[in-house]
Amino acid sequence: MKILGVETSCDETAAAIVEDGVKVLSNEIASQVDIHARYGGIVPEVASRQHTLSIIPIISSAMTKAKTDWQELDAIAVTNGPGLAGSLLVGVNTAKAISLAHKLPLIGVNHLEGHIYANWLDDNVPEFPLLCLIVSGGHSDLVLMKGHGNYILLGRTRDDAAGEAFDKAARILGLGYPGGPVIEKAAATGKDTIPLPRAWLKGTYDFSFSGIKTALLRLAEDGKISTPADGAASFQTAIIEVLVTKTIATAQEYGVKQIILCGGVAANKALRQKLMTDSPLPVLIPPMILCTDNAAMIAACGYFRFKAGKIADLSLDVVPNLKLV
Ligand code: KG4
Ligand code: ZN
Repeated sequence: MKILGVETSCDETAAAIVEDGVKVLSNEIASQVDIHARYGGIVPEVASRQHTLSIIPIISSAMTKAKTDWQELDAIAVTNGPGLAGSLLVGVNTAKAISLAHKLPLIGVNHLEGHIYANWLDDNVPEFPLLCLIVSGGHSDLVLMKGHGNYILLGRTRDDAAGEAFDKAARILGLGYPGGPVIEKAAATGKDTIPLPRAWLKGTYDFSFSGIKTALLRLAEDGKISTPADGAASFQTAIIEVLVTKTIATAQEYGVKQIILCGGVAANKALRQKLMTDSPLPVLIPPMILCTDNAAMIAACGYFRFKAGKIADLSLDVVPNLKLV
């Protein structure tokens, strides 16, 4: 069964074709990062305009690369939230038009559920029950997954998401945008020498990352950060230590079989490494290209939703603050 996935929730216009929820036949992404870098962050109006320019070429290219024509497709899956309203609308309306024109079932996908399903792609077979750590620009969630589509939210960030913290720290350290990749690069040449606080929120599965960012800001204002590289290394170490420690403790408490890591921050090599090294349980992490926003994960998730009979109709709408549970 071949599903076309479409993703436009933020600043990547993406289309992909995935077979049976697991095999990536094509995975096309048009990144707007250079355009938004000029402004130091994502400008929503600019993002939706870019999506309208890129969406058709990106879908055509996904179809061509997968050597698939419309008759061979079985369904179309599209992200309908959470995300920027104007950006989501481009993908959802395009998907509705395609669904109508080619008589294809339409599947609405939650972007976060998509991130989780990146772990089913390319020969991975996660085993339930499992614990997902979803770390993206807007979320840092610990989710217990007992089966397909069966989620219990155990913890979340009470303030900044991990990705957001990386983005803000990069700005404080004058490293530019996007934050995660530039902090990771700078950290590689720096040392963890700057003392930064860790918020453990003991007795809960929640996270909090705004205190560490404020501490970094104060130290920067007081001229106490030796080099941006040391600032980046210290900040990255602190964030990763909290994420990894709390995730492993939660996994052990719930007796899950596996831990899966997903979302844009899962592209961070130091995080991947530490979680795999420290965890006594098996850890699954998608390849880097499937961690940051992409449409293959949306098509994968769409397949499992389709099998569960969760099919949308043309009344499907965007839900900018759509919740996983
Ligand atoms: O999942 P994603 O691509 O988009 C959202 O759904 O938000 O995640 C984007 C976030 C950004 O905050 C970005 O700074 C962070 O993921 N990120 C990283 C890395 N690559 C992207 N954070 C740390 N290290 C990275 N290598
Ligand atoms: Zn994302």
